[in-house]
Amino acid sequence: MLKPDMSAETLQILPEDPARDAEAIEALFDATFGPGHFAKTAERLREYSRSLPAINRVARLGDEVIAVCRVWPIRVGETRALFYGPVAVAPDHRGSRLGLTVTGEALEAGAAAGWPVAILIGAPSYFGEIGFEVAARDSISFPGPQDQARVMWRGLSSDAVPAGAVQAAPDLA
Ligand SMILES: CC(C)(COP(=O)(O)OP(=O)(O)OC[C@H]1O[C@@H](n2cnc3c(N)ncnc32)[C@H](O)[C@@H]1OP(=O)(O)O)[C@@H](O)C(=O)NCCC(=O)NCCS
Repeated sequence: MLKPDMSAETLQILPEDPARDAEAIEALFDATFGPGHFAKTAERLREYSRSLPAINRVARLGDEVIAVCRVWPIRVGETRALFYGPVAVAPDHRGSRLGLTVTGEALEAGAAAGWPVAILIGAPSYFGEIGFEVAARDSISFPGPQDQARVMWRGLSSDAVPAGAVQAAPDLA
């Protein structure tokens, strides 16, 4: 359900338009995660790669970007996969699971584009609501220290269970 203050303007969930949205997304990440941004291990998958604007989703309220889910091409072992995150909701707009709405739409876009599987690092109680499950311990290994209890996966266009070492895969973009 949308919060009442969202009703005056239309909430839109859209693919990222880099020319229009990139600056607002960076500002949202700064406001959400603070300077220095993200956990190191996940960031290693992103630093030499590019996210996929057609699969990323932003929530816009009027001219404002109030939530985002970015998505990155990776390999898990030999299997191509999508890495979801960061997911962020502007502090004033939390409380209506908007993070799950943008992530859910980005999952649909990933499945429609034929990607077999989605991976993320996050809170199981939160992302479990949209079908993610915790991976079997040490079945998916990241390039850096990682709390295995937060490594989650979900099938997209396939039910194959991902396993192996995770690597950035900018060549798949
Ligand atoms: C996580 C985040 C996206 C959730 O925003 P939201 O979609 O508006 O979610 P809501 O505020 O509606 O919370 C939904 C539920 O998830 C819980 N929740 C929220 N953030 C959580 C977190 N980081 N870990 C575990 N549970 C969380 C809430 O307590 C709430 O539970 P309840 O329904 O039992 O009260 C938002 O808090 C945020 O941007 N946080 C900072 C960035 C971040 O941690 N991103 C996730 C990892 S990439």
